[in-house]
Amino acid sequence: MQSYKTNIATVSKEAMDTSDIEMELLLQAVNLKYGYDFRNYSKAHLKRRINQRLQLSSLNTISELQNKVLWDKSFFRTLLQDLSINVTEMFRDPEFYLAFRKKVVSDLKTYARLKVWHAGCSTGEEVFSLAILLKEEDLLGRTQIYATDFNKNVLESAKLGIYSKKEIDLYAKNYTEAGGKGKLSDYYTSKYGSVLFDKSLTKNIVFADHNLVTDGVFAEVNLIFCRNVLIYFDKYLQNRVLGLFTNSLTKRGFLCIGTKENLRFTDYEHSYSPIDKKMKIYKKLQIT
Ligand SMILES: C[S@@+](CC[C@H](N)C(=O)[O-])C[C@H]1O[C@@H](n2cnc3c(N)ncnc32)[C@H](O)[C@@H]1O
Repeated sequence: MQSYKTNIATVSKEAMDTSDIEMELLLQAVNLKYGYDFRNYSKAHLKRRINQRLQLSSLNTISELQNKVLWDKSFFRTLLQDLSINVTEMFRDPEFYLAFRKKVVSDLKTYARLKVWHAGCSTGEEVFSLAILLKEEDLLGRTQIYATDFNKNVLESAKLGIYSKKEIDLYAKNYTEAGGKGKLSDYYTSKYGSVLFDKSLTKNIVFADHNLVTDGVFAEVNLIFCRNVLIYFDKYLQNRVLGLFTNSLTKRGFLCIGTKENLRFTDYEHSYSPIDKKMKIYKKLQIT
């Protein structure tokens, strides 16, 4: 099976722009040297991030950047950080969590054991949000969460569960708007400029390295969270990842994607029924 669609192969008579050729070569070099495949990420996203990196590192061309990436591993880690975009927050889009509580939780309560895959979990704020919600709904004890990302640095932060106090007011506001049943401060202790989330929340969470582009299905799960990740992928890659999710989910399992993302016009549009169209909560159909 072809692993990605190359622009070079599809260019026929019209010549490609030089910077587009440089971009293709850079992505190929990164894949060959480091095994990270960004070739089917959205071109607009790649261009934006690579142009920023050129400016920040005072480089003139993508070819110069490619040379540096190939010979300097620490520079590659910087580029990886640039391309992975780890922006996140606790109870991000509180309306989503409220809808999830109202429309999904009662169904989850019918299961004796629950398995959850949280893909593209970044530094873990969303994972802790889900763990708190499940705890308040008496579901955490029977739930196993696999929280994955391809960026090892963010996974290390996620495992610690330590966040800056600066963000906590926003997170507490989100928590309340998301239908939180107590106070967010019930779940952490403050120390200096940081807060440390309660270890009881992470008892059933495994944080693991998983690349949605190159790795396969690793577990059968009842619920998948993958929010604000597909937006960085092109259609081909979105379909690949949605295929992974569909194969991973049990029948009538739930899929939650970002509010700016969509199943419409993908190969899996007809494999799910919407539970909340606006909040992008879907249920896998019995027959897919
Ligand atoms: C914008 S963050 C979203 C974090 C969180 N889900 C949220 O909505 O707040 C995108 C995350 O996807 C991860 N990511 C990007 N490409 C990935 C890939 N191929 N495999 C696994 N994770 C990936 C990034 O490292 C980053 O942590």
